[in-house]
Amino acid sequence: MTAPRSRIAMRAVIGVAAAAGLLAVLVLWQPSGLYPWFKALHVIAVIAWMAGMLYLPRLFVYHADAAVGSDKSETFKIMERRLYRGITTPAMLASWLFGLWLAFGFGIVDFSQGWMWLKAVMVVALSGIHGWYGRLTRDFANDRNTRPSKFFRMINEIPFVLAIVIVIAVVVRPF
Ligand code: HEM
Repeated sequence: MTAPRSRIAMRAVIGVAAAAGLLAVLVLWQPSGLYPWFKALHVIAVIAWMAGMLYLPRLFVYHADAAVGSDKSETFKIMERRLYRGITTPAMLASWLFGLWLAFGFGIVDFSQGWMWLKAVMVVALSGIHGWYGRLTRDFANDRNTRPSKFFRMINEIPFVLAIVIVIAVVVRPF
């Protein structure tokens, strides 16, 4: 059973408002001893986000081959909804929250460094793919998917490639 759109929109607004409020408090507070802890939380949140971004398209691959209305298809719907809403989206919000706090809470943002631009572009792209996965999850939930499993096999690795580029950019800082 899916929640009505107004309730989903209300939850999204509350989530974003709570995240923005928390971020504002952290930026004003600037507890410097907590910096490495928040970096750790950022990386943990990113790991959970990536787990969802890598597993969801695998579910789409098998779901695309399941007959509409079959038990298998209905089970995939539940798995996809829970993975997307319960883990992947909260993890993405937490990654942004801790990442923005690391960046602006300590004024370490310096866009004269190329790697920061590279990371920013990759992270926005990853967030866009996240939103698109949400639409695909809704299409499957409403039995409206028309794409073959081969398509999902092909897009499967894109988030992983973006993650590799991001990690090399932030750790190696090649330019
Ligand atoms: C969602 C938006 C994101 C923002 C705003 C953000 C921002 C930041 C900032 C400001 C730092 C601290 C950099 C420093 O201490 O020099 C950081 C660290 C890090 N970020 Fe992100 N990040 C985001 C997403 C990601 C993603 C998607 C990944 C990986 C796939 C990632 C991987 C890392 C890693 C590994 C570090 C630790 C780097 C180090 O200490 O050497 N971040 N992030």
